[in-house]
Formats: sequence, structure tokens, C-alpha cells
Amino acid sequence: MAEVHETLDNLMQENRTFPPSPAFVTEANATAAIYDEAEADRLGFWAKQARGLDWDTDFTEVLDWSNAPFAKWFVGGKLNVAYNCVDRHVLSGHGDQIAIRFEGEPGDQINITYRELMDQVCKAANAITELGVSAGDRVAIYMPMIPEAVVAMLACARVGAVHSVVFAGFSAEALRSRIEDAQAKLVITADGQNRRGSVMSLKPAVDEAVAASPSVNNVLVVRRCGNDIAWGEKDVWWHEFVANQSPEHTPIAFDSEHPLFILYTSGTTGKPKGILHTTGGYLTQVSYTHRVVFDLKPDTDVFWCTADIGWVTGHSYIVYGPLANRVTQVIYEGTPDTPGKDRWWDIIQRHGVTILYTAPTAIRTFMKWGDEFPQAYDLSSLRLLGSVGEPINPEAWMWYRSVIGGNNCPIVDTWWQTETGGMMISPLPGVTATKPGSAMRALPGIGMAVVDDAGTPLGNGHGGFLVLTEPWPAMLRGIWGDNQRFIDTYWSKWPQFYFAGDGAKLDNDGALWLLGRVDDVMNVSGHRISTTEVESALVSHPSVAEAAVVGAADETTGQAIVAFVILRGGMEGDDGTTLVTELRNHVATEIGAIAKPKKIMIVPELPKTRSGKILRRLLQDVAEHRSVGDSTTLADPAVMNLISAGLESSSADD
Ligand code: PRX
Repeated sequence: MAEVHETLDNLMQENRTFPPSPAFVTEANATAAIYDEAEADRLGFWAKQARGLDWDTDFTEVLDWSNAPFAKWFVGGKLNVAYNCVDRHVLSGHGDQIAIRFEGEPGDQINITYRELMDQVCKAANAITELGVSAGDRVAIYMPMIPEAVVAMLACARVGAVHSVVFAGFSAEALRSRIEDAQAKLVITADGQNRRGSVMSLKPAVDEAVAASPSVNNVLVVRRCGNDIAWGEKDVWWHEFVANQSPEHTPIAFDSEHPLFILYTSGTTGKPKGILHTTGGYLTQVSYTHRVVFDLKPDTDVFWCTADIGWVTGHSYIVYGPLANRVTQVIYEGTPDTPGKDRWWDIIQRHGVTILYTAPTAIRTFMKWGDEFPQAYDLSSLRLLGSVGEPINPEAWMWYRSVIGGNNCPIVDTWWQTETGGMMISPLPGVTATKPGSAMRALPGIGMAVVDDAGTPLGNGHGGFLVLTEPWPAMLRGIWGDNQRFIDTYWSKWPQFYFAGDGAKLDNDGALWLLGRVDDVMNVSGHRISTTEVESALVSHPSVAEAAVVGAADETTGQAIVAFVILRGGMEGDDGTTLVTELRNHVATEIGAIAKPKKIMIVPELPKTRSGKILRRLLQDVAEHRSVGDSTTLADPAVMNLISAGLESSSADD
């Protein structure tokens, strides 16, 4: 809490507010009345949202919370997620509407209509069935941002298989451990992906992971780049095997609580958590939030969420929410600076994008690159902007509003998590007068509070811990294979509340300001990485005796990973530069390039309490070049001097 208060004291007062334009208000999907509606009858409100979906069998009970914290939503209902995302739009006469406007990094483009998407999903569903995948089986997906990734996810949903998408930037070892934890039967991947103008091979990581994964029977491989890859007896080409399947497939209705997917995310230990989401409640909340928060108009909008399907944002706001709402959306394979730093603005102009959903890190990067890139394009098609993944600073918010949105687009800063499945806290664009940098308030149907250490809700003007006070439809149903960890992580600090792990403040008007994580989780470019995970990777290197990792404030990425390592005796050798490079690469091999520490400092000691707990707070002071805070609880208070002295002689970064 001490740290939360310090942040609060430093938080700037933000008094500017931006109400939506009268024109936006008139046309908005959601009005202020839905707050009252949800308040008056929360479960009735959710039942109404659920009935926007196509149920094969209607539900008999909205929420069963008798086995808390294991929720059941829309009990007794049965539905098929892929049918809801694809078939029903074709059946209602929208088969010719473009679902996906895909653009590859090299410039290749393809439009896929809902009818074509349905055919592809059916073929893929038949293909994975022929490969022995049936309802309840797990399928690992390790793919670039190409339409086949969406098709693969929907094919799994269609046959009731549980997908586990692993971000294609993760290492072979990270993929292997996730395959093992979920005991995946099938892996769907591609030969490679286009990144920054060159082909990055994906298949070798899969080969390495699969060689050590006896549960995997087959690997289905999309030919994306045509790069040379090794071919083994488990491998099957997508373009041969899927293409030859029948486009007829009858969807099976699954129970509302049937598992839909697992998505691994970092926790406070070295082992990632397999966050489990189920069918009816998840689809209800992601489609509802996508409709009201983005004000989606299916006949006219062109939606673009720039996330990767490897993260929850890609699951909920590229695949399930948007497609359930019959969106037309852009999917882009590559990086924002290829071939030039104007790629995104060029995409927006050419495709006439109306809604853009991205992360503060990207916004800050564009700010740094300069206004001339967006200003060279006509961005007037944009009518709404969204932000997600980390706190957005008022300066970036204002830049987003004026330079990208032409002062004409409401901004929705959406707070949620892998665990929440869908958005929880956000303005409603046609209702809320937004403040730059604030996620404002809980969405209708969501219960949220800011509490103190004792779990007492705090009033306006106070800061503390963010909790969710009521179960919600898209909530995680547990951690794959580890129910106790689910209870311990989220429901033990205050058993009546879900503990999100974030600090937050309610300002004097009751607007909510997120203050970052209060646990040992870092947020780097909107990606969650646990300090312990990086520490474990570092100590698995033969030269490292001990490691402590902190997230240090970074202008662009929000936080940057800074590691302090103690070497094993006799390992010092050179000035440390070569070793530091080796250690950074070692972390990339163990976890993935996203977890590479920006800076590694070789130190003689780490600051520990008498019980052996590392005081990361003090290391954070060092990493952020502040004078070191209170070190009186250290077992050896002199250690901070030692660290500072050590730094002068041996720090290195690149
Ligand atoms: O700390 C919060 C931050 O991201 C965490 C969730 O990360 P993840 O599960 O990877 O999901 C990211 C995409 C939903 C949260 O605990 N976070 C997410 N959105 C915001 C945010 N922090 C501040 N403002 C946000 N809008």
C-alpha cells in the first residue's frame, strides 16, 4: 500500500473533460439508461444481453454462484460459438459482407466474406476432426496474424475443442511448457511470418517443442512464407489437408459452461497460469461490450484492433466479440514501421477504418516518431478510438485525440484482464464525458470498488486496490489444472471480492484512475510479464547465482525490465558486457524476446529482509535513478551501498 499512496500523491490533477458530440450521442448504441437498467436488475440485464446470441437450447438460470468462486452462467443453455460468429450472419442474408480485410506485411491483400469464412471454418473443423480432435481436447495454436489463425480458433470452437493460443513471439520452451500443461493433442502453426521486412521462421520452435511433447499427435502447418522448413511424420499441410475437406459441417451445441479456451498469462510465480474461459457467458460479455463500448454499427463500420491473437485482446476483440457482432474488420500481419513509419495510417486511409483499438505503448511510439507520419494521411474515416493494456498518460491520450482522432472521436480507455475475459471498466462513448487518462467507471452490469487493505470500500478522492464485487459472465472459471491457485490468487485476500492485482484511485468526481500493478507483475508494452518468471530464466543460466528483476518506468513501453544478478564465483571474467548480452539472449530463449531485460546489472549482493524476501522497491529506486528509499528493514543495511558501488564498476546495457 505504501507504494500506492506514493503514486497517488504524485498523480497529477486532471480536470479536462470531453463530452461526446451531440451527433455521436444521437446515434449511439448505448444510452445512459442502461446503467439504470443494469442497476435495477443486474441478472435480468445480463440475460437480455445473452439473448442477443443464438441459443440452441435456452438457459434456465442466469447465474449459479452457489459454488463460488466457480461461477456458472446461463445454466442449462446450449449454443455453438462458431455458429454465432459466422453461420448466423450468412443465414440472415449477410454472406457477402466482408468479415476480414487482411493485409500481409509485404502488401498482399485478401478480403474474406462471411460465406467464405463459414466454408473455411467448416473445412478446418472437418480437418481437425479427421486428425482425431474431439470436444474437450486441447489444441495449441502458434500462428502469425493471418486469417487462418482466426479460422483455426473458430474451428476449435465449432467442434468444442479447447484452444490454447501461444503468442508466436514466445520461445520453443515456452510453447513446450504450455503444450505440456494443457496436454495438447494438436498444434496448428505456420512455416513462418513476415516481420519487419523479412521472414521469421516459426516451425523450428514448434519442431523443438513437439519433439519433447508426447501428447501431440499432429502438427497442422499453414504455408505462409514458403520458407524452407523441416518436415516430420506428424506434420500435415493446411493447404492440402484442410482445402480438400468438405465445406459442410453441422455445428454441435455445447453447454454454456463448456470450456472454450485456455490462455496462459503471467502470475507472480515462475509458472504461467492457464486462464480458463467457457462458452455462453464469455460470448455474451465480449459481444455486449464490443457493441456498446465501440458503438459498433455492423453495416458501416470498419473495425481495427491492432492486438495479436496471442493475447486476450485478440481473442475477445478480434475473434469472438467482433465476429459475433458481424463486424467488417482489418487484420494486419506485420509491424507498424514496415515498410515505413506510416504503415498504420496508410492502412486506415485505404481501408476506411472507422474504429481503432490499440495500446498506449503504440501511441507513445507514434508520438515519438512524429506527427508528420499520421498527418500525411486522411484519417477522417475514424469516428472512435480505443486504448487497452496499460494506463494511458494524459499526454498520450490528448495526442491520440487530436493528431489521430482530429478532435472528433470519443476515446474509450478500457480496463480489463485476461482473467476478466472482456472489458470491465470503460467510458460509454455516447454517454461519458471522458477525462484524459481515466478509464472512468464500471460498465453497466459490472460491480467494481476501490478498497483499502482491510477490504473496506473507499470513497471518492481515495486510492487503494481495485476489486470486482460481483461475478460477471466472462469471468475466468479457474486456472487449468490448479483450482487452488485460482482461489489463492484472486479470492483469498478478501474472499468476497475478486482481487485484480491493480492499484486504483477514485477522483473527487468518482472517475477511476488505474495506477498499475501492486504485485510482482510487470507491464511491458501492455504485456504482462512476471518478475519471477524472468528471475527463474536468469538463474537457469550457469553463470548466475541469484537474480532480482524489477519493472522500471519507461517513457515508451510503460515499464522496462531491469535485472540485478549475482554471478557464481569465478564467473566475472571480462567487464561483463559479453555476459550481459548472453544473459539477455538466454532469457529470450527461455521465455521469448518480449521478456529480454532492457538492462542487466551485475551486483555483489541483493537487498533482502531478515526473512530473505528481496526488497524490489529499493532496486526499483536504483533502476529509476532515484535516491534509495527506506532500507531499515534490510538484514544488512549496508548492502545498498555495495550495490551502488558495484554498479559503477560493472553495469552494462545495450
Ligand atoms: O494492470 C492492468 C493492465 O493490464 C493488466 C491485464 O493484463 P492482461 O491480462 O495481459 O490483459 C491486457 C489486455 C486486457 C491489468 O491487470 N491494464 C489493462 N488495461 C488497462 C490496464 N491498466 C490501465 N488501464 C487500462 N485500460
